[in-house]
Amino acid sequence: MQKLKKIIFSVFTCTFLLNVNIPANSTEKEVKVYSGRHYNTDRSVFKKFAEETGIKVRLIEAAGISLIERMKREGKNSQADLILLVDAARITNAAKAGLLQSIESSNLENDVPVGLKDPGKEWYALTRRVRVMIANPKVVDVSKINDYTDLADPSLKGKVCLRNRKSPYNQSLVANQLINKGELATKAWLSGMISNVSKPFFPGDIAIIRAVSKKKCGVGIVNHYYVARMLAGVNGRRDALYAKKTEVLTPNPAHVNISAGGVAKYATNKNEAIQLLEFLASSEGSKGLAAPTFEHPLKEVNQNQIVKNFGEFTPDGVTVEELGEKNSLAIRLMKDAGWN
Ligand SMILES: [Fe+2]
Repeated sequence: MQKLKKIIFSVFTCTFLLNVNIPANSTEKEVKVYSGRHYNTDRSVFKKFAEETGIKVRLIEAAGISLIERMKREGKNSQADLILLVDAARITNAAKAGLLQSIESSNLENDVPVGLKDPGKEWYALTRRVRVMIANPKVVDVSKINDYTDLADPSLKGKVCLRNRKSPYNQSLVANQLINKGELATKAWLSGMISNVSKPFFPGDIAIIRAVSKKKCGVGIVNHYYVARMLAGVNGRRDALYAKKTEVLTPNPAHVNISAGGVAKYATNKNEAIQLLEFLASSEGSKGLAAPTFEHPLKEVNQNQIVKNFGEFTPDGVTVEELGEKNSLAIRLMKDAGWN
């Protein structure tokens, strides 16, 4: 059993040592990164950093939630120096769990806009993603769907598809509505929208885009980059054809979420971790992470035409810190409304 567990564990977590040319006179500096950003393209950004600084990057990738659980389990024995996570809910929960430490960096303060960083200096955003609606114009009247709240309209009965409650992406969207519209309005929205849902709830955003394309639903909520990736053919030709049958509807203003990083509480290579975090949040680093994943860098929008075709977006001004504060209330209201 123990052996089986070991095998399963190693399937889901993989360690990479990025081979770079370390300058001959440098001491063996390194930084160990636990990353919940599951994108191969991040490795070229780490490689660039390693080439510029001579600091070796050891990368351990896993899904966001298991990284947090793993760090809690490891405690002081954790190898992690720098933690990268996707979604406001995950990074703020990591801070709440005492897994990160406060750092001083004027570079990070300058490079990361207000609202996208922790006032306690434990985490900083690196990229941005927009939660958009995806619709099939052959199933629903897209001119009547402008905001997340429109998904509660009784005319959409049986036509709304949603990802399950466990997804931090939706938890943060509900937290966002709590801040923007208040608790009463959010409860009414949830109750209306959930009564429109075509069940079961979906395991992921890509499955929702496929279902909307196949007319199994009329409209759903997903992160914008999933649609972009499908359109670009990253997931294969069939997914590109599916995505082409759908339309992205961006609310104005829109809920904007982040991927973010923070230095681990028990980092043994703290200075190197700060250096890498600074590099990732810099204009070059943030663009390097965001461009190939179709996310948006911190201060600009993704220049890929596929993403540009989704139209401009205006962030609604809710801070990541606020999203974290409302996370548990959001989960409770989702449960109460029957969001499984
Ligand atoms: Fe994602």
